[in-house]
Amino acid sequence: MELVKLTPLEFRKIAKVVYEKTGIHLPETKLTLLSNRLRKRVRALKLENFKAYYNLLKDSKRCEEELPHFLSAVTTNETYFFRNEALWKFFRETWLPEVVARKKKNRSVSIRVWSAASSSGEEAFTAAICLRESLPDFSRWDVQIIASDISQDVLDRARLGRFTEYSVARLPKKYMTKWFDREEDAYVIKRELCKMVSFRFHNLRDPFPNANFDLVFLRNVLMYFDTTMKVRVLTNVSNALVPGGRLVVGDVDPIRNCPTLSAAMTLEYRGPNVYQKPAFDRTLAATAPKG
Ligand SMILES: C[S@@+](CC[C@H](N)C(=O)[O-])C[C@H]1O[C@@H](n2cnc3c(N)ncnc32)[C@H](O)[C@@H]1O
Repeated sequence: MELVKLTPLEFRKIAKVVYEKTGIHLPETKLTLLSNRLRKRVRALKLENFKAYYNLLKDSKRCEEELPHFLSAVTTNETYFFRNEALWKFFRETWLPEVVARKKKNRSVSIRVWSAASSSGEEAFTAAICLRESLPDFSRWDVQIIASDISQDVLDRARLGRFTEYSVARLPKKYMTKWFDREEDAYVIKRELCKMVSFRFHNLRDPFPNANFDLVFLRNVLMYFDTTMKVRVLTNVSNALVPGGRLVVGDVDPIRNCPTLSAAMTLEYRGPNVYQKPAFDRTLAATAPKG
């Protein structure tokens, strides 16, 4: 049987499942896109139609097995090295010297970075390159970069450390030579950089366990969520920062563009796309006994 498109009713039902599982809000204009993406799953499972696929998603036992494929199918994973050069300049020239000064003051050598919604790892590995290139006395530091996503497909790809021409197109040539091996069909990141990044499954709907990040990248993902989900994600991410930690958002700042989010935001605006968790708890400071 020819699988054409989801009907508007099927679309609404499946979009509801997408929202429940991921927080991604799909407007009806995405009907063709969702049809195209799920058609592959319907065929892979040898199902008759989209209705049968929806029934499978609603059957908790069968859904468990399908869920990773479903999440990979409904997410958009566009990413590349050095996306938004201005932010990486900020990372190297502003954030890094500041964090080094703060750590020295606290006699700490640990630096924790989280690439939240990392896709296939280009953002996390860009951070790794910048840290290797610009962190003075690199070997004396304990650097950990965590990269997370809800798509197992992209996480599996990220762990291989193999990248396409498209992915590395904006990578400065000197870094390409230094940090990649060229294979026939891929640019392969050096083991030394691979070791700096750990990839894991994480849904931004949920708090990140035992988090103490100095910097969180949350770029090009909030735009898929509605305001309720954005507030939830920003709360989770803010809680994952250490006092004084920074949050970097995407190219078109989703927080400043939305009054509800700006009002709910507990972090301080520090410049284009950058927010900071206050270095101390103002509520406690305000109520602390004087003298
Ligand atoms: C467009 S990519 C952004 C990649 C990278 N941050 C960048 O800016 O280049 C968006 C990523 O968000 C992930 N994503 C979507 N919803 C998510 C959720 N609820 N939790 C975690 N990741 C999610 C998708 O799987 C996708 O890989």
